[in-house]
Amino acid sequence: MAKRILLDVDTGIDDSLAILYLLASPDAELVGIAATAGNVPAPQVAANTLAILDLADADDIEVALGAAEPLAIPLRTTEDTHGPQGLGYAQLPASPRPLSDRSAAQMWVDQVRAHPGELTGLCTGPLTNLALALRLEPNLPLLLDRLVIMGGAFNHPGNTTPTNEWNIHVDPEAAKEVFDAFSAVPPGRRPVVCALDITETIEMRPDHLVALAEAARSTPPELVNEDFDTEWRSAATNPVIAYLTDAIRFYFDFHHSYDLGYLAHVHDPFAAAVALDPGLAVTKPATVDVELTGRLTRATTVADWAGMWGREPNADIVIGTEPGIFFDRMITRVGALARRLDMEHRSDMEHRR
Ligand code: RIB
Ligand code: CA
Repeated sequence: MAKRILLDVDTGIDDSLAILYLLASPDAELVGIAATAGNVPAPQVAANTLAILDLADADDIEVALGAAEPLAIPLRTTEDTHGPQGLGYAQLPASPRPLSDRSAAQMWVDQVRAHPGELTGLCTGPLTNLALALRLEPNLPLLLDRLVIMGGAFNHPGNTTPTNEWNIHVDPEAAKEVFDAFSAVPPGRRPVVCALDITETIEMRPDHLVALAEAARSTPPELVNEDFDTEWRSAATNPVIAYLTDAIRFYFDFHHSYDLGYLAHVHDPFAAAVALDPGLAVTKPATVDVELTGRLTRATTVADWAGMWGREPNADIVIGTEPGIFFDRMITRVGALARRLDMEHRSDMEHRR
């Protein structure tokens, strides 16, 4: 039985790999995508998301535009991390497909009301539009089957300030409203939180790109490294592999420039894999709240693991996983998708001759 996923992204490089992973997964049905401002402004997130869907011939999936700004503060974007358009060095043709007529928040509300108890929400960007949806439909937590969030940092340094993580940093008020809204759900419905504690162990490396190319039967194999010129672009015969190589190489360069190694923390596809298979993650319940007023700590996610606040847990935080299992599954699935799409395109070309 496929998991019906309502996805909320700020496409971005790793968001795009999460979308491809879901499209490549037979146990996933993508019912709609909300475009949230974060890595890049919301209209660019929406354009990137449509372009990725077109790359994967998934042109029947609704993409709804989210709010232009966070709930209470001006938008901050991070083109230095994800590239000028948000897809690294890659450039995809603009999709001719129109965006949904409804807003991202309205799509959240309409979808959970239409399919009560059936949908898994997966958020890989700031929580602005989920918070707006909760304001429209306070019962949303009980209308979802489950929520999976990529965000936060607990017993682990932040990646945006010393203590906070990007998705929460962009809209901490929204994050607080979301965690507060899930304070009354039963244990089996608590949000699963994939924070930096775990997602920074999901280290994609150049040989993973080579393995993806091999799985897709794409040539030539391209083992990129830090000496490649920024102007270099993939010559891969497979369009999905060429895209991923050019997108993720930017992410490698970014992490390398911050002395993290020539690698990329692929946060979002890991969260997508957990959404489809919670068995990938070891979790521990905690009460999560978000600091909003600290001069040094604003937007920090705080976990009360021991009930010191006297409040029921509102999250299941991922505390363990086996990265190798994720990478094997991601490479197998996305590699097979890339190969299938390429074979279909070649077959179409043959028929047109
Ligand atoms: O902190 C990592 C998160 O911020 C990822 O979702 C990445 O895409 C950015 O949105
Ligand atoms: Ca993201």
